[in-house]
Amino acid sequence: MQSKLIEVAQDARKKAHAPYSKFYVGAALETSNGKIFPGCNVENASYSLTICAERTALFSAVAAGERNFTHLVVATENGVSPCGACRQVIWELCGEIPITLVNETGARTETSSSELLPQAFGQQDLGS
Ligand code: THU
Repeated sequence: MQSKLIEVAQDARKKAHAPYSKFYVGAALETSNGKIFPGCNVENASYSLTICAERTALFSAVAAGERNFTHLVVATENGVSPCGACRQVIWELCGEIPITLVNETGARTETSSSELLPQAFGQQDLGS
């Protein structure tokens, strides 16, 4: 399944709309019932409207009714890790899951949501 997820993330990366940064990002999110949701970054001439690949995949999955996630793969040219905003959203929607970062040659780094966002702020911190 990991190799399929990597394939989907690398394929999604090719669909990125990134004419400003030219930094193309793909993501693939696996659900506990075996579905895979792709995501890519989508930029805008009004730069702050840009959405990252990870959040595209997550929001697409939530909109399709999915709430249980088991693995996220992020594909970039150089295998870098998700931005801070995405780390927070990953924690909110996925809790602790394995995350694989892959570069364009296929080299992988294995990490997890809590490793990327230690001592995360979450629902439990809001009290009752
Ligand atoms: N980007 C992502 O898609 N995910 C990240 O975690 C980091 C940044 C995108 C946003 C923007 O389109 C481009 O990469 C450069 O920041």
